[in-house]
Amino acid sequence: MPKESRKGFSRRSFLQTTAAAVGATAVGGLMPASFAIGGSSKVRIGILLPYSGTYAMLGNSITDAFKLRVQMGDGTIAGREVEYIPIDSEMSVPKAPQNTKKLVDKEKVDFLVGPVHSGIAAVMAKLVGPREGPIMIVPNAGSNAVTGPLCADNIFRTSFSNWQPAFPGGKVMADDGHKTAITIAWKYAAGMQMMDAGKSAFEQNGGKVIKDIQVPFPNVEFQANLSEIAALKPDAVFAFFSGGGAVKFVKDYAAAGLKDKIPLYGPGFLTEGVSKAQGAAAEGIRTTLHYSGDLENSANQAFRRAYDKAYGKMPNVFSVQGYDAAALIINAMTQVGGDSGATGDLINAMSGAKFPDSPRGAWHMSAAHNPVQNIYLREVRGGKQKLLGIAAKDLEDPAKGCKMA
Ligand code: PHB
Repeated sequence: MPKESRKGFSRRSFLQTTAAAVGATAVGGLMPASFAIGGSSKVRIGILLPYSGTYAMLGNSITDAFKLRVQMGDGTIAGREVEYIPIDSEMSVPKAPQNTKKLVDKEKVDFLVGPVHSGIAAVMAKLVGPREGPIMIVPNAGSNAVTGPLCADNIFRTSFSNWQPAFPGGKVMADDGHKTAITIAWKYAAGMQMMDAGKSAFEQNGGKVIKDIQVPFPNVEFQANLSEIAALKPDAVFAFFSGGGAVKFVKDYAAAGLKDKIPLYGPGFLTEGVSKAQGAAAEGIRTTLHYSGDLENSANQAFRRAYDKAYGKMPNVFSVQGYDAAALIINAMTQVGGDSGATGDLINAMSGAKFPDSPRGAWHMSAAHNPVQNIYLREVRGGKQKLLGIAAKDLEDPAKGCKMA
């Protein structure tokens, strides 16, 4: 069936015609393995995540926690053994089509887990959704489009939209009494969408952004940008960097003498999983995110103990997203008796998914297949995140352009 005609399918007509769709898909290009292999073989989990470069820590955290969640059950997915087929995305958008096709067409995975990078997410979503490929679970990439114009029956996210952690952050910055700000981020979808969201909340609450600085991804040469910030003297700076780049930015910011003069804010990725490496430079940085390590719910305590025992380190938000991606698959597969070919029923189970016991606190899947979740305000103290409160309760992404929502 040509892609154009599939794009017109409504969710309802798909669910009514699952059998027909299965037949049609089997002769198409991207064929889910489950239709070809049947229910008794191993469940094949294709993973497209970064294992090198500035986001390597994110990819490893997601993968480790996904596997931990499977092990914390009986080591199977609904009674079936699990086979992981990981590919290093290298954060390369040009390589994303071939990497995706390799997992779907050649490896014939039952579920596709990835990516971290918003640009890659949009490429993957166009290839596999709606129903062109297997069910895809996004365990990080926040691309607003993936649960907006590109939303699809078979695409689910267990992380966040870029708007979600950023919008409350802009309000926090205004509430802290700042009147002017500079935004600074890597120049690609994630950075631009987070800066737009933070800026609009800041300005809606009486602030004014005097300059948006865009840094080519994944560059970490910040000296010229820091000189410009020092010269323009805003009240505050709102930043998106993550992984290795966040370590370098926060350290350079302090080394340039800006830390005690112009406070840094941002979506929590700025200090998440990296605050130890940032050391004193991170102390006092306030961020907003859908997780804080010190959340007191019992699921978080159990998760942190198990992760520490398995890997000898503490988890972070990326781990939580990977853990919940595995939980989403396990719960849905259990509901369909382990039949990974029951696509319509799996989609139904995932669409209504509720996570009362996630380490991040309770969340549920929105109609656009994105988490409805709390966004927490945290501050780095003694190298750890200190929870200061809830910046936005049960926040739902506006899902602009999503026809399912
Ligand atoms: C993204 O590209 O969507 C992205 C990457 C790293 C983050 C958050 C979002 O920490």
